[in-house]
Amino acid sequence: MSAVVLGIETSCDETAAAVVGSDLVVRSSVVSSQIDLHARYGGVVPEIASRAHIERITPVVVEALADAGMSPQRPDGIDAVAATIGPGLVGSLLVGVSAAKALALAWDVPFVGVNHLEAHLFAPMLEEPDVAYPLLVLLVSGGHSMFLAMHGPGEYRLLGRTVDDAAGEAFDKVARFLGLGYPGGPVIDRLAEEGDAQAIAFPRSMLHEGFDLSFSGLKTSVVNHVRRNPSVSSADVAASFREAVVDVLVHKARRAAAEIGAVGVSLAGGVAANSRLRDRWVAFAEEDGLRAHLPSRAYCTDNAAMVAAAGAWRLGRTGSSPLDAAVDPNLPLVVVGG
Ligand code: KG4
Ligand code: ZN
Repeated sequence: MSAVVLGIETSCDETAAAVVGSDLVVRSSVVSSQIDLHARYGGVVPEIASRAHIERITPVVVEALADAGMSPQRPDGIDAVAATIGPGLVGSLLVGVSAAKALALAWDVPFVGVNHLEAHLFAPMLEEPDVAYPLLVLLVSGGHSMFLAMHGPGEYRLLGRTVDDAAGEAFDKVARFLGLGYPGGPVIDRLAEEGDAQAIAFPRSMLHEGFDLSFSGLKTSVVNHVRRNPSVSSADVAASFREAVVDVLVHKARRAAAEIGAVGVSLAGGVAANSRLRDRWVAFAEEDGLRAHLPSRAYCTDNAAMVAAAGAWRLGRTGSSPLDAAVDPNLPLVVVGG
């Protein structure tokens, strides 16, 4: 992984660009969040997201190049331009991919289309280049929740995934129901700090069954509990809900790590920014003699440094992508056993 790569990420509601150097050293990482634009609608509005990406993509790329000490007009030393090509919102993906292709053409360097889920898996390597395998990875974001056995970059075995809502989606839906705003994960996380996690015994779905996950029953339980107890403390609901989610994730991760003979356990995706999940992840890894990998919060949620890192590796492994490569809103992660 020795190329210097400009990464671009626009799959959802973050416009991001980053320059990652050889050995995955992050030279710059700029993220422009659109949360303020979507909050009043309670979720991401695709049309608004793509328009905002169009407005922001050029200034964000210019800032990332400038922060890396490069001239935006003719940056010296960029070996490739990588962009998230899927999965994500089609109109949003198109903006970043079109910009990346245009820059690759103008600078006469390769373009690399990157899978957003694979990019999340590269986040731990940005801060700890010497990750050891096999690694048990819990990838939990707004759109996906899965347990993977990672045997090295590009070698993923699917152990289990959500059968209904993604973990982040469950946080977002419960927050919306409680009237806490969007995105729900950070708000519930903050509110939960003031509540009692043992106050309400919410269900732990499929706790002892395999490695698949389910969150829709928990969400319904929260709704039913609040409807039956209108004066219940929101902080107690938030804390008890968060504990139920984290309990299931940690319990299953522990079993999965043992089953695959993992030497380390890694978190990835936006929900990996959750403080309770992070604390319990470190604690269980320590108890079980495993190395815990926790990317900084800024590298858990959507960013372009992880896209550049995955792009650098993909360039070396599978080469560049053609300039007519299409975006794919449903692009799957290539896994064994999926
Ligand atoms: O990875 P990400 O930034 O975007 C996707 O690829 O989906 O993840 C966004 C998700 C949202 O559902 C958000 O509510 C959740 O991550 N999230 C959190 C926290 N911060 C973000 N969930 C729980 N606790 C947090 N602190
Ligand atoms: Zn993501």
